[in-house]
Amino acid sequence: MPAILLTGGAGYIASHTAICLLEAGFEVLALDNFSNSQPQALERVAQICGRSIPFVQADIRDEAALEHVFNTHQISAVVHFAGLKAVGESTEKPLEYYDNNVAGTVTLCRVMARHGVKQLVFSSSATVYGDAQKMPICEDAPRSATNPYGQSKLMLEYILADLQASDPQWRIAVLRYFNPVGAHPSGLIGENPNGIPNNLMPFISQVAVGKRAKLSVFGDDYATPDGTGVRDYIHVMDLADGHVKALQYLQQQAGLVAVNLGTGQGYSVLQMVKAFSEINQVAVPYQIVARRPGDIGTCYADARLALQLFGWKAERDLADMVRDAWRWQQQNPDGYCS
Ligand code: NAD
Ligand code: UFG
Repeated sequence: MPAILLTGGAGYIASHTAICLLEAGFEVLALDNFSNSQPQALERVAQICGRSIPFVQADIRDEAALEHVFNTHQISAVVHFAGLKAVGESTEKPLEYYDNNVAGTVTLCRVMARHGVKQLVFSSSATVYGDAQKMPICEDAPRSATNPYGQSKLMLEYILADLQASDPQWRIAVLRYFNPVGAHPSGLIGENPNGIPNNLMPFISQVAVGKRAKLSVFGDDYATPDGTGVRDYIHVMDLADGHVKALQYLQQQAGLVAVNLGTGQGYSVLQMVKAFSEINQVAVPYQIVARRPGDIGTCYADARLALQLFGWKAERDLADMVRDAWRWQQQNPDGYCS
């Protein structure tokens, strides 16, 4: 049976997606250069699924390596997660971001086309909506970017649309993720940030476990109910299921679709802190500090298109998100090195 190639396969979202794909009866092949992940993640996936996960160590920018992968494996579709994702770092190292994300994806698509593999699910981001004026955010909202990371996703959305328009055999699902959080309920895999976490949930988890003294809440003067930033947090297992549904959709439908994967529900930073500490019965000390440059006040999805097209909606609630994030953190205080 041909496999689904997961680029960035050892990463946070891909490792969870691998489980859902295997459970849905797909074969998977993971490809990663391990620039932001470890092979242990795939060993843990194997432990959860009771079978080994084939993987290749390669860089998506290495055309010869990709050629070899497509020559030696039967691949029916690609779920393309590989990329760099740290907003702050992208402003310091823009060329690395454009090279990895944009050039890497162009190389990948070129190899796919050569091998007649024209089904692609692409990891985009709610960041392509910039500072959206209207909530909830629909897929046809104006797009913009304020940093090289966001710019790379936006460029790729245009590139993929041009590619599909040039050759209607391509079937492409551009998935715009809102804020993925949580972990597999086993506590065996989860988000494993290098150094100081940029994102809220891993930071809260590290404060709760005692690795960091307190959370800095970036601003309490936004136009939100409690003044702190509001986001659409989505459980990573729901997000993973969304990829299975998107692939199943592409098996039936040609064309390109861009679809939000969010819950449609926004929570503020303080609501997240409260939920985490109350549900997990653990203290999360915090202090209010200045706004983080580049942050927006509010961002949550209109999640109806995913339901309409894919028959998918998020099933897990905030309690599941904070419980599963905490289980992963407690069982693996130092990530996969624990
Ligand atoms: P992650 O860093 O855990 O996973 C990305 C994986 O890609 C890593 O394992 C990394 O080693 C690998 N990789 C990076 N560059 C590569 C290259 N050139 N060749 C091969 N492998 C490479 O990140 P994630 O959170 O799982 O994100 C997956 C995708 O989803 C990314 O494209 C990211 O931009 C996008 N996304 C993530 C979020 C989020 O908040 N986590 C939100 C929106 C979109
Ligand atoms: N926050 C804090 N303290 C922290 C970290 C975050 O108060 O230490 C606040 C932020 O100000 C924001 C909220 O928590 O209000 C969420 O911040 P994250 O950094 O977790 O997430 P963002 O919404 O800023 O960005 C994330 C990814 C982007 C992606 C976007 C949309 O980092 O790459 O979600 O998917 F584009």
